[in-house]
Amino acid sequence: MKWAKHLFSLLPLALTFAGAPARAVDQPPMLSGVVRSRAEGAMEGVLVTARKRGSAIAVTVASNDRGAFAFPAGRLTPGEYTIAIRATGYELYGAPRTVSLSGEKTVVDLALTPARDTGAQLTNSEWFDSIPGSEKDKRPLMACMSCHSLERIVRSTHDANEFVDVLRRMVNYVTESGRDDIPQRAIPRDIPEDKLRSFATFLASINRSRGEWTWRLRMAPRPRGRATNVIITEYDLPRATIAPHDVWRDPEGFVWYSNSAEQYLGRLDPRDGSHREFALPVARPDAPRGTLDLEPDGNSDLWLALMYQGGLAKFDRRTELFTLFPVSSGSADEATQQSMVAPAASDIDGKVWTNEVGKQAIMRVDIATGRYELVDPFANAALGSVHTPYGMVTDAANNLWFLDFGGQTLGKIDARTLAVTHYPTPTSASRPRRGRFDGKTIWFAEFGADKLAAFDVERESFREWSVPSTHSFPYDAFMDADGDLWSGNMANDRVLRMRPESGAAVEYLLPQHANIRRVFVDDRKPRRSLWAGDNHGARIFRVEPLD
Ligand code: HEC
Repeated sequence: MKWAKHLFSLLPLALTFAGAPARAVDQPPMLSGVVRSRAEGAMEGVLVTARKRGSAIAVTVASNDRGAFAFPAGRLTPGEYTIAIRATGYELYGAPRTVSLSGEKTVVDLALTPARDTGAQLTNSEWFDSIPGSEKDKRPLMACMSCHSLERIVRSTHDANEFVDVLRRMVNYVTESGRDDIPQRAIPRDIPEDKLRSFATFLASINRSRGEWTWRLRMAPRPRGRATNVIITEYDLPRATIAPHDVWRDPEGFVWYSNSAEQYLGRLDPRDGSHREFALPVARPDAPRGTLDLEPDGNSDLWLALMYQGGLAKFDRRTELFTLFPVSSGSADEATQQSMVAPAASDIDGKVWTNEVGKQAIMRVDIATGRYELVDPFANAALGSVHTPYGMVTDAANNLWFLDFGGQTLGKIDARTLAVTHYPTPTSASRPRRGRFDGKTIWFAEFGADKLAAFDVERESFREWSVPSTHSFPYDAFMDADGDLWSGNMANDRVLRMRPESGAAVEYLLPQHANIRRVFVDDRKPRRSLWAGDNHGARIFRVEPLD
């Protein structure tokens, strides 16, 4: 109600804090306050981040429907903090806010003013929503955001001819480029100009080649209600070039991640923020570096897919040593690339599945001999021409279930006979990406359809749910022990939590732009939390709902 909001903003501050704490938290707040702007009065869903001077760890909470935010004691220790906010369209009024915490309860009110550059704050989803054109025109932009924001595309001033050259340059980078200043090169390829011309013309119609944009910037609503009842912790990794991709928390509490731009397996200790790296050998000095899929096996040892370095690596967490399974030179060529690995939960047949991106096929290695075999699951299938076997899981018989990210099927390969069965998803062009198997159901994300999906392996039937926001591009799905289905959205800086029976969903906004890939939900007490990496931002984050 408008008058109520207005009245609230006139109340003296002392009164504002006399009442109940801002929200139910486990400890009394150490730092709290109210966020207001002239335009809105008290503001709900503003993310407030506190970072101690010199610390690699930042803690974020969100303001509630009265504009109040509170950091529980125990999350912040005495010291000097800088305060930052996220509320699209706004920025903090005045100079950067610093606050000194002594251990006593501290109150800091925040005033927001309109942002000077709203464009710099938009997520890729908001760019997708804002950019004029049909869904068909915009669809190829999906490929661009694997590496960077759409902002640089719409801010550019290239005409169509120049864009042809830009596009030719882009196809010669690999997505594991890490940072712009050190892009990794793909095997050189040239795409004929006529294949790029119509997209280049479209791009020149949405950028500033003919002056400033005449279209409106569309902003997603700020978080509300349950979506504000959360604590987010960000852990900066020690080099800006680290590109965390998959994240897994081990039984001892360490958080492991694959680095998709460098030859290291990383380990973060969230208890104190300390960090270690385990170097992987460089088998192919001329090929791009970095690993992608990171999976624990039944012994909680880790398997890594070695991408362009070719093959798989197993890491023994106890001895801290790698065992390498290189793709043998006979079957490997320049294009060899393993992005996925699916170790079995227990030793069944001594084999581990992976993929061969270079041939858009599946491979399987015999652990004892190190020998790989190749299976082309699309050899006899009339399923369209574009295929990318990507996310994969195994069942109790070590049969492989894989998602065709280029197309729209879930495929099964029988471990004994290598017979292939394809199950098309109900939605076409769904681009199923990654997910997990809980013994009964394969839960996965349909990247190209903005849906989450489930496949019951016994009944061979699908269910699908639309995610709440358009152009989210969910990458992965994780069903937790409590029946909540989680996903990281690659484009809208949000983590999704959904109840499949009712479809009820909450989206948690992150404090900064984040390109989210694999998600991992840790069910351990005292509170469930989701862990993921920002592939473009050299940080790991934890989303901890308070309900
Ligand atoms: C594989 C990674 C990758 C992909 C995919 C990618 N880019 Fe880039 N892009 C880069 C890198 C690295 C840079 C910075 C270096 C450079 O400009 O060459 C860049 C820079 C740019 C720039 C700013 C520089 C300039 O010349 O104006 C534009 C515009 C751009 N990209 C457009 C696109 C478009 C459009 C797409 C999607 C069709 C795309 N990019 C896809 C890696 C990528």
